[in-house]
Amino acid sequence: MRQKIVAGNWKMNKNLVETKALISDLKAQANTSGARVIITPSFVNLALAVSETEGSGIEVAAQNMSQHDSGAYTGEVSAAMLKSAGVNVVILGHSERRAYYGETDALLVEKVNKALAEGMEVIFCFGEELEERKANKHFDVVASQISNALFHLEASAFKNVILAYEPVWAIGTGETASSDQAQEMHAFIRKTLADKYNADLASSVSVLYGGSCKPSNAEEIFSKEDVDGGLIGGASLKAVDFFGVINANK
Ligand code: PGA
Repeated sequence: MRQKIVAGNWKMNKNLVETKALISDLKAQANTSGARVIITPSFVNLALAVSETEGSGIEVAAQNMSQHDSGAYTGEVSAAMLKSAGVNVVILGHSERRAYYGETDALLVEKVNKALAEGMEVIFCFGEELEERKANKHFDVVASQISNALFHLEASAFKNVILAYEPVWAIGTGETASSDQAQEMHAFIRKTLADKYNADLASSVSVLYGGSCKPSNAEEIFSKEDVDGGLIGGASLKAVDFFGVINANK
């Protein structure tokens, strides 16, 4: 179901004490937008975050997950482990995972399949690099990232998929896509879904924008027809900034 969503991607930030403090600050803020609010502390603090957010309306998601069930995979975290900690949503395909940890479309197929088979919801990230945009290849890149990792799925699986368009050149750079660039790509994403599946599916999937989204630009971006919310990095690490973004998602 299409929803307004604002998810904070904490990345490798906030130790245990800081996680507790940020959640306490977040709970002191009011969500006047009605948007679904998700935070993603590091693996080691997820269980704490689940108990600290109980009853607050703030959901806790993971930033990554193994494609395997269990066994000799040193350093990995499984879907079953996440679920047992009360985490039922996972970010997959973030550009930092693709760039620094070699995550390929083929690996992402496995991860997406595992998460969905385990009944989890997936926030699937994709987006072009600066060179690709300059070469006017951004639509092709996005279409192939989506189709390579998701188009083997049955239409019904998309009820547990949230899409996050994150142009790599806008992540952590302070440079945001303009609201028109975001809208243009989000409309293209829905058309790509409609062509493969159908128009109903295309209009029922939540599509988030990510990349230097902050209180000062969020309202303009979220006002666009095909933008349902955001995946927020830097601005999710301070409660007032994060809620500034959340409350811009009217
Ligand atoms: P940013 O990160 O908001 O700091 O650009 C977004 C993301 O990487 O998800």
